[in-house]
Amino acid sequence: MQIPKWPVAMEREMRLLREVLEGNQWGGFHEFVGRFERNFAEFQHCAHGVSCANGTLALELAMAAAGIEAGDEVIVPAISFISSATAISRAGAIPVFVDIEPYSFNIDPARTAAAVSPKTKAIMPVHFGGPIADMDRLMDLSRGRRLIVIEDAAHAHGSEWNGKRAGSFGLCSAFSFQNSKVMTAGEGGILLTNDADFAERARSFANQGRATGQGWFYHFTLGSNYRITALQAAVLLAQLERLPAQIELRRRNEEILRKELADVEGLTLQKVPAQVNAHSHYLLLGRIDAARFGLSRDEFHKAITGRGIPCTPFYPHTLYNNPLYRQGGCRVEPCPVAEACIHDAFWFPSRVLMADEGTIREIAGVIRGLRP
Ligand SMILES: Cc1ncc(COP(=O)(O)O)c(C=O)c1O
Repeated sequence: MQIPKWPVAMEREMRLLREVLEGNQWGGFHEFVGRFERNFAEFQHCAHGVSCANGTLALELAMAAAGIEAGDEVIVPAISFISSATAISRAGAIPVFVDIEPYSFNIDPARTAAAVSPKTKAIMPVHFGGPIADMDRLMDLSRGRRLIVIEDAAHAHGSEWNGKRAGSFGLCSAFSFQNSKVMTAGEGGILLTNDADFAERARSFANQGRATGQGWFYHFTLGSNYRITALQAAVLLAQLERLPAQIELRRRNEEILRKELADVEGLTLQKVPAQVNAHSHYLLLGRIDAARFGLSRDEFHKAITGRGIPCTPFYPHTLYNNPLYRQGGCRVEPCPVAEACIHDAFWFPSRVLMADEGTIREIAGVIRGLRP
């Protein structure tokens, strides 16, 4: 099976990297860093960007700048990568795990509303796999209950909800540029916001408590060093230029795959709400109904990977069933959908959707052929 490798660097990355390496500023104060922050913020319809060494730090920075503190509760989906929850815990706050919707894999707005308590300070939707969570209902809820919205947009580069891009809905949002993400510098992250004061607070925190226009050895707040290098920025500038064409390639291939698999009984691919008019196509998720499909999710996964198609059998547990949160430090709402997905869901990584059309049709043929 001809599945392209990921990540990929081209001449553009090499040229920009060379430009950095030939100069004497390889760190976070190179002009490329500010240029990337502006370009990426604009791409996601945001006014300000503060780059970070990785997406986990971008979430931790969001918590600090938003003033989330000990005793606060932050509502987060039970299905996500661990950083969505640990960023909350690191702030001394309590993650409240709520269920996802059955086929969008995104946080369930009704269950989110039901989980709000007097201690709830914020909600953190995760735009899982690329399609955006129901931001109409989540923003309505946040306005009604005066909650901060922090978007974990680690999967949602270029994703849109009614033409508005991921990361531009809440007070702020965090993106990841880790190795598997649809644009990457191996590691990297960014915090985006449309709030100028919030941006200044975040930038100061990420840059040792310094203040814009003030001296190098003047530190006004308890900050840290979250900066990226100019080498990361060079690679990300090049990756961002290619992102729209790559999204379009994945969109076309996903459309083909969905058409080819539409009548396969027992296989349901991620449902994408009509409001999601574009998305990153980072993961192509699905669920297997073993009784109707004829194979269990694990049998499906074994057969698929055996044919050379990269596939992940979902997370091995909900966030709250990680050893860390089994010890407590969280509140858990009923999560029947998340629990079911642990056993019946899977995802294809983005590089599967970057294959040529012939390979995409071949993949569809393999899946169709699996049914007894
Ligand atoms: C949903 C989600 N949030 C946050 C992160 C953390 O990003 P990073 O790996 O760049 O720290 C990731 C993954 O990598 C993720 O998938």
